[in-house]
Amino acid sequence: MCGIISALSFDDGVSESLLSALERLEYRGYDSAGIAYIDGNSRLHRIRTVGRIKTLREAVERQSVKANVGIGHTRWATHGKVTELNAHPHSADGVAIVHNGIIENYQELRKRLVAAGYSFESETDSEVIAKLIAFNMKSGASFESAFKQAISKFVGTFAIAAIYEAEPDVLIGAKRGSPMAVGLSKDGRSCFIASDAVALSSLADEIAYLEEEDIVVARKGDTLRYEICNASGETVVREVVPNKVSLDDVTKNGYETFMLKEIFEEPRVARNTYDKFDYDVDLSKFPGVSIIACGTSYYAGLLAKYWLEDIAGIHVDVEIASEFRYRNPVLFKNSLYVFISQSGETIDTLCAMRLVKAAGIKTLALVNVDASSIAREADYVIKTVAGVEVGVASTKAFVAQTLSMLLLAKRKADFDIDVVESAMNSVLNKSHEFAKTAEKLKSGRSLFYVGRGTSYPISLEGALKIKELSYVSAEGYPSGEIKHGPIAIVDDCVHTVAIAPFDKHFEKTVSNTQEILARNGKVILLTTDAARGSLHGFDANENVDCIFLPDCDALYQPFPLMTAIHLLAYHTAKAKGYDVDKPRNLAKSVTVE
Ligand code: M6R
Repeated sequence: MCGIISALSFDDGVSESLLSALERLEYRGYDSAGIAYIDGNSRLHRIRTVGRIKTLREAVERQSVKANVGIGHTRWATHGKVTELNAHPHSADGVAIVHNGIIENYQELRKRLVAAGYSFESETDSEVIAKLIAFNMKSGASFESAFKQAISKFVGTFAIAAIYEAEPDVLIGAKRGSPMAVGLSKDGRSCFIASDAVALSSLADEIAYLEEEDIVVARKGDTLRYEICNASGETVVREVVPNKVSLDDVTKNGYETFMLKEIFEEPRVARNTYDKFDYDVDLSKFPGVSIIACGTSYYAGLLAKYWLEDIAGIHVDVEIASEFRYRNPVLFKNSLYVFISQSGETIDTLCAMRLVKAAGIKTLALVNVDASSIAREADYVIKTVAGVEVGVASTKAFVAQTLSMLLLAKRKADFDIDVVESAMNSVLNKSHEFAKTAEKLKSGRSLFYVGRGTSYPISLEGALKIKELSYVSAEGYPSGEIKHGPIAIVDDCVHTVAIAPFDKHFEKTVSNTQEILARNGKVILLTTDAARGSLHGFDANENVDCIFLPDCDALYQPFPLMTAIHLLAYHTAKAKGYDVDKPRNLAKSVTVE
């Protein structure tokens, strides 16, 4: 949530580096944005706009900015509405800062700063950072020590970058709880501090990730250097690693949207996951498995429960991280605790993992971002190989997470990835059919997604995806559960997507949808070719639409279904004219509780 970038350079074109990085960071938040820079006369300027980076770019380009140092921010509002005054950077007496995270004690600090004569223009927690640094400098502290003193007073989480107009050759950053990376350009003429490797792609080929409580100070003299010190103030060297994010990863490559590109990558992601999977976790050593995650990653865990119990015969609990961590859970020392997260930064999942570690239990994480906090703190890591996922709605990462979990349950040698890949490709070839159905769905007041067995977690994922992108109320249910209450809302404005491949649950799910049709509800039956002979006129009902997918073994069937529900959500949002890559109110990486 919120993306930050900062740059110090021998060249005066940092505003373009800031804007291009903000464009790549937009997935972290996109309600408002801003930059601050210091001009050739050592004067600090800020440009802030409400809306997307495109609007900020236009504002910056109107002013032909020339600067060797600057900071930038794209916001996902936590404290304070979406307004220009609440947009970052915040400033005080020539200091400007950008912040990702939450300063929990900001009210108390704000009171003290107001008493000291400062006035605040925003409702944010972040503004106290700039004011406190400025306040500390009033008593004679240098920019660097004023920054360090300020940091020591904050309760909460932060990644902060700061500049000061009287010291335009200095750029400072600090990290606690929110990710931060630093890198030099290939020619050594520029240094960048940012939220992640995606922001730094095309700016820095090699980067170092800051550790908790690290402070980085970049200085420009004869050369450009940065120095990192740890919580005890000792100078430390953090490993410099290649920045693996290529420009290709963060461009649409001819697709209209990132989400469509990422859905079309799903078969390849399944293949890569299979090819690269080489983890040998002996599940028989554990009496049980607990899977903890949020959102789509939680649904990946629910799907894994079916497989782990059915194939490996091991008891599995699946928990939502934000509940698990606050309910004083009873932990089983010998169980395997698995944490699933695409971003590796979801704070609830991270804190749940810390809770388990603190009890002396080993943790296994499934993460898609290499150097993320969860990847770095887990005892064991399974790297999902979905590649960079830019669309805010998770799609291909779900494929990588679920297939990785299935490969934990089932030996690779007994698995036929060709079947999976080809079934998913066949679904992609039917994209136009989903577009046609979406035209009907778009008018629905609300939606149910129903399924039995492994189709139930797929239903939950389908409902979440359409809700996120189309802003329509949608609930996933086991199909047998609808009659226990939810059916009360069924009328001719309610659509039900029934996920019913021709498996052992088919008849029952179709029978449940009859109950919906009897109440004038509309049904979209997502089934497989083999069901054609068993519909007994069901498909002749004017309130029924059928989409037929390829048949495959029940074990593999969830994969083409995933692609199908992702396409349906995509086309419905497009039919409604919404921005599928950046749905309203959301952010990709949820680093607040
Ligand atoms: O990065 P994570 O996998 O930990 O994220 C968890 C959820 O925030 C995420 O899956 C969210 O539900 C997505 N918007 C789903 O599309």
